[in-house]
Amino acid sequence: MSIILEARELTTQLVTRSGLVTAVDHVNLRIEEGRALALVGESGSGKSMTCASLLRVLPPNGRVVGGQVLFKGEDLLAMTPRALRAVRGRRIGMVLQDAMTSLNPLMTVGDQIAEVFRYHHGIRDRAELRRRAIEALEAVQIPAAAQRLDSYPFQFSGGMRQRVSIAINIACSPELLFCDEPTTALDVTVQLQILNLLRDLQRERRMTIVFVTHDLRLASQFCDDVAIMYAGRIVERGPIGEVFHRPVHPYTEGLLRAAPSLGAPRERLSTIPGTPPSPLALPPGCRFAPRCPQASAQCTEAYPDWFSWDQGRRAVACWRTAERLGVEEVAADGAVPPPLPPRVAVPEVTS
Ligand SMILES: Nc1ncnc2c1ncn2[C@@H]1O[C@H](COP(=O)(O)OP(=O)(O)O)[C@@H](O)[C@H]1O
Ligand SMILES: [Mg+2]
Repeated sequence: MSIILEARELTTQLVTRSGLVTAVDHVNLRIEEGRALALVGESGSGKSMTCASLLRVLPPNGRVVGGQVLFKGEDLLAMTPRALRAVRGRRIGMVLQDAMTSLNPLMTVGDQIAEVFRYHHGIRDRAELRRRAIEALEAVQIPAAAQRLDSYPFQFSGGMRQRVSIAINIACSPELLFCDEPTTALDVTVQLQILNLLRDLQRERRMTIVFVTHDLRLASQFCDDVAIMYAGRIVERGPIGEVFHRPVHPYTEGLLRAAPSLGAPRERLSTIPGTPPSPLALPPGCRFAPRCPQASAQCTEAYPDWFSWDQGRRAVACWRTAERLGVEEVAADGAVPPPLPPRVAVPEVTS
């Protein structure tokens, strides 16, 4: 197993009218090559800012104030802007929630794809650029690709526009693709089509994917690993089957219990009482402690250590980890705890 991207203690602050917000707070992430990682959390938990920090595409009021980001061992945060531009778009792609904001409304789709090949591969020959653009649209299964090259983004449906955005981002066969809520704006059927497309592309091209979502069922359907975010921090991570089968962090457990099943009749869901803390007034201990049914005095006093096992594949930031696992103590990078019965079952996504 090799790690393609690793964030260590990544911390990002944003200047806002009400004060300084730490949107990404000592985030530790490990993305294994060839796998799909789901970055899951409620709206406002810092998922987008984490991705923007990793790729250094923060808004002007944002700044990475600490930590490291290693892409195949190279520190992205220390790279010159020029070196970084060569990595972004070519070796790392990023598909955003609304393709309308990432596409240029004044350029034809064909010209926008051609631009990628011109910029990153130095191709100048017009016939060659056209041929490459058609191939790129065909790769994302846009019908009659040759005819659609001269269309503008507004002439495409939402789903087709997202395919165009994917085509642009994978044109250079990146090793790593970030997809930040790529289907949230789309209806359910189109959502599943796009995700199936991404999954097929990932397998064909052996890409690594980071899939940002607030939807646990989509995550469980399409991803291998998961990292759960709460109020700017990663609280639990590991192989998605294991984490969803037996969540250790009470927040993960609460999220799973609150996940509705897609396509099934509306059922009564439990919700986590309370709301996430304001980023301007974070509690001193565990961010989740004020809402946690299992919080002890220690939880409200100090932020929990990062307990990890199974060579770091599984990790949780919760003072009650050992107790929740039913073991005496969790030794750092220690043995795998014994298998335990599931706490909750995640419903399957059906289409
Ligand atoms: N451009 C911005 N300026 C100031 N604060 C922002 C900006 N974008 C996001 N934030 C704040 O940063 C925090 C994390 O936001 P974000 O990463 O967008 O969350 P998510 O993607 O998980 O919904 C939130 O508190 C949000 O209000
Ligand atoms: Mg977001």
